[in-house]
Amino acid sequence: MSKTNKKSIIILAAGAGTRMKSELPKVLHKISGKPMLYYSIKEALKLSDDVTVVLYHQFELVKSEIEKYFSNITFVIQDHKNFPGTGGAVMQIVPKYEKVLVLNADMPLIQASELEKFDTFDEDDATIVMSVLELENADGYGRVVIESGSVKKVVEQKDATTEELKITTANAGIYQFKTKFLLENLPKLDNNNAQKEYYITDLVEMAIKQGKVLKPIFVSIENFKGVNSKVELADAEMIHQNRIKKEFMKNGVIMRLPETIYIEDGVEIEGESIIENGVSLLGNTKIINSHIKTNCVVESSIVEDSDVGPMARIRPDSKIVNTHIGNFVETKKALLNGVKAGHLSYLGDCSIDEGTNIGCGTITCNYDGVNKYQTIIGKNVFVGSDTQFVAPVTIEDDVLIGAGSCVTQNVKKGELYLTRAKAKVIDGYFYKHFKSKK
Ligand code: UD1
Ligand code: CA
Repeated sequence: MSKTNKKSIIILAAGAGTRMKSELPKVLHKISGKPMLYYSIKEALKLSDDVTVVLYHQFELVKSEIEKYFSNITFVIQDHKNFPGTGGAVMQIVPKYEKVLVLNADMPLIQASELEKFDTFDEDDATIVMSVLELENADGYGRVVIESGSVKKVVEQKDATTEELKITTANAGIYQFKTKFLLENLPKLDNNNAQKEYYITDLVEMAIKQGKVLKPIFVSIENFKGVNSKVELADAEMIHQNRIKKEFMKNGVIMRLPETIYIEDGVEIEGESIIENGVSLLGNTKIINSHIKTNCVVESSIVEDSDVGPMARIRPDSKIVNTHIGNFVETKKALLNGVKAGHLSYLGDCSIDEGTNIGCGTITCNYDGVNKYQTIIGKNVFVGSDTQFVAPVTIEDDVLIGAGSCVTQNVKKGELYLTRAKAKVIDGYFYKHFKSKK
């Protein structure tokens, strides 16, 4: 992607997003684990070092969420009270370059490679290049009138005549302007329309009156899908998920029933890993040459040369190497290297070394209600079933722990540790208890 054809990019994110029916600002609703706005900014930064995001509704919240990911962008607060609308949103921008690309923040599927095509009209010296969609039904969109390859008019649905409503060429809402034209004409916008807003689309009419060249660029409906409701949010996430998964499969990852797998943006999978149906890979998880079986959840952890599940939960900051994790095992901040934990365990705040076997039902009691403590288990330890480690506790190498033990002290190399209540046996007690006869 080149930054040579220099342009400034403005991302409009000031709208209220009322159709989302949510307390959360629309652009912070998540797709594949990241706010929608994150994706527009990420693509914009591939094309420009001058990216401005226009905010208004809950701008402090939006700004602080976005600053978690990007530090090299500019924020502008729209004067929404006096200048509402998409035209009002661009009034305060200060572009660095001769061209300005205006993006909507609610289009999380846009791709920098497609936005680059807006430059193909440079030889025509187009003053405005605007994105258009050829739809079967353009309901909800502004309609674009195109004659002999040039844009002649854009009319908003709410302002359109019955004839104009029949037009199927829609305004996708993304434009590239010559900066000079934009800055000269923005102050001339008015709000004489059905919504009493300042429309960016009115610049089209002004450009035509001034005899400028306006070019339509037909764009893909999938990439330019707008998200205005929770239904559209789910649709967009589905497309986004398919993109993520296809990329991994192309690189050699095997996915069983990929439509049932959920993988967040930022996850890495290397080698010939196998991801079975129903798996969720979250946060900054990294899977290397491993097999993740049905219905596991892995969050912000590393799994390398291991097999996990079915139905295991690997919680943040676990590092699982050369290890077998079976069903109903939960880990958190667990460093497991060459370990077998086949069934029903909680391994939290622990480090367990090579050759160690964790019996069924083993629990690290890592929390006393106030603080968290570490369990450290060495090499070749055999942990009998139903063992509790009351942390902090350290088990050295070559230790045998008897089934049902509660480990409350450190155990030295080579020792057996066993806590077991003495069994009581009373002949015939069953019949006495239930007052029945043998
Ligand atoms: C706009 C276009 C319409 C096009 C459609 C495509 C106008 C007048 N109409 O309509 O022709 O078919 O996009 O999706 O431009 N925003 C602000 N400040 C505001 C209002 C909106 O920053 O005061 C932002 C929104 O956050 C959003 C974008 O601008 O990211 C588009 O706003 P929206 O209200 O969705 O525009 P539409 O009515 O859909
Ligand atoms: Ca919209």
